[in-house]
Amino acid sequence: MAVEWSSSAPEVLLTVDRDAPAPLRAQLELQLRDAIRAGRLAAGERMPSSRALAEHLGLSRGIVQECYEQLVAEGYLVSRPGSATRVASVSTRADERTEQPSAAPGGRVGPAGRVGPGSLPASAPRLVADFQAGLPDLGLVPREDWAWAVREACRTAPSAAFDYGDVLGDDGLREVLASYLRRVRATDASAARIMVCAGYQQGLTVVLQALAASGRRLVAVEDPGSVGTVTAAARSAHGDCVPVPVDAEGIDVEALDRTGARVVVVTPAHQWPTGVVLSPGRRHELLAWARRRDAVVVEDEYDSEFRYDREPVGSLQGLDPHRVVSIGTVSKSLAPALRLGWVVLPPSLVDPVAAVRRTVDRGTPTIDQLALAVLMESGRYDRHLRRMRAEYARRRQSLVAAVETHAPELRLTGLAAGFHAVAHLPDGSPEERVVARAREHGVGVEGMSRYRSTGATTPGQLVIGFGNTGPRAIAEGIGSIRSWL
Ligand SMILES: Cc1ncc(COP(=O)(O)O)c(C=O)c1O
Repeated sequence: MAVEWSSSAPEVLLTVDRDAPAPLRAQLELQLRDAIRAGRLAAGERMPSSRALAEHLGLSRGIVQECYEQLVAEGYLVSRPGSATRVASVSTRADERTEQPSAAPGGRVGPAGRVGPGSLPASAPRLVADFQAGLPDLGLVPREDWAWAVREACRTAPSAAFDYGDVLGDDGLREVLASYLRRVRATDASAARIMVCAGYQQGLTVVLQALAASGRRLVAVEDPGSVGTVTAAARSAHGDCVPVPVDAEGIDVEALDRTGARVVVVTPAHQWPTGVVLSPGRRHELLAWARRRDAVVVEDEYDSEFRYDREPVGSLQGLDPHRVVSIGTVSKSLAPALRLGWVVLPPSLVDPVAAVRRTVDRGTPTIDQLALAVLMESGRYDRHLRRMRAEYARRRQSLVAAVETHAPELRLTGLAAGFHAVAHLPDGSPEERVVARAREHGVGVEGMSRYRSTGATTPGQLVIGFGNTGPRAIAEGIGSIRSWL
């Protein structure tokens, strides 16, 4: 993991010899190059500010700045306006450009052993463009607002708030969430039927464990979809998972019916990862299936906040609150690191879910819950979403334009919402070859095969995330992908 130095105390041994014939700047450059090559300064590590390093070594700041500029030019360091200078990844260094990175895009493993969305480890090779799907812009997390909200929460919370709380969550946050979800998602929500949790994954696991106790152990999952995640959750409940195909209208309900499963996990607003929107006909078919089979539909509302080209589609739960469990998360709207989410439950599942949750932990950290309530009530959450919606809409447009200009043989779909799309490869462009070549040339992108239960690589498709990638990188990355079609 990259170390963050405090600006005044760089923990690396650098010395300059004022009596040596070599100029001070050349000495410093040489030592920094050596330290980076030897790994004493690891990829991704933040360099001290030029002022701090100059003070530490008793040099003028100009010398350190020139040295940094030289090393940036050589590819040892990277600098971006407004952020700290960092040690570059191996793949971008001038002397080692031929070396091939070894990590998979996003540092993730495939469906079977998928560990979750994850992100690039700090020491992973720097990519020219990282189209990792599922990540919001980590540079635009509303840190100030979150810090303010935590402070407000801490300042205003009564002493009793520091005791163990309700395992289902803080009453105040549950009220705020209920009214927010009714307003924004047309969810049939009430505070009493909400469980606050540590994100979608925990919510899903607890719900599947509660459903297993009622005999519903076989869980159907969309294919392609979050096969690995849902399988892991089902197995934690001593159950199993069965894939059901998704077509242009969403999940195939007839195929679902044939599985015998009485639980299904779906992403109706923007299918993960094909981007298909569950058609109105299928919504009704799915709910009719649930009633006929006494089954439960688990709705994953992961990126429903970001919708572009049509009127927002309300939550499926709003159509049948007795059959649908709806799970939301701040992992796309704020940041995955916050580990906050919510589950809206049918009345019959509230007690069973609370009983399971008590065996898992004693609830979600209260101050974080209060902070989320403060953020939402203050309007700052909505404001952030508005900003991000505009930002992602711009990037989505950049992606469409980049494909039109640089790679017209790609066909894009799934762009109605969220921050990822699917690029359909032309015949004769094998998915695995395109993904591998792109990666070798600094473009991180995933193939759809990673989300298929069989791992099939046909039809060849790329899942292109643009949440954490700016417009320039999008254009560069798409231009580069074209060379491998
Ligand atoms: C389909 C899907 N749903 C939900 C999530 C969010 O999960 P969590 O809230 O546990 O971070 C993810 C994360 O990438 C996802 O891929």
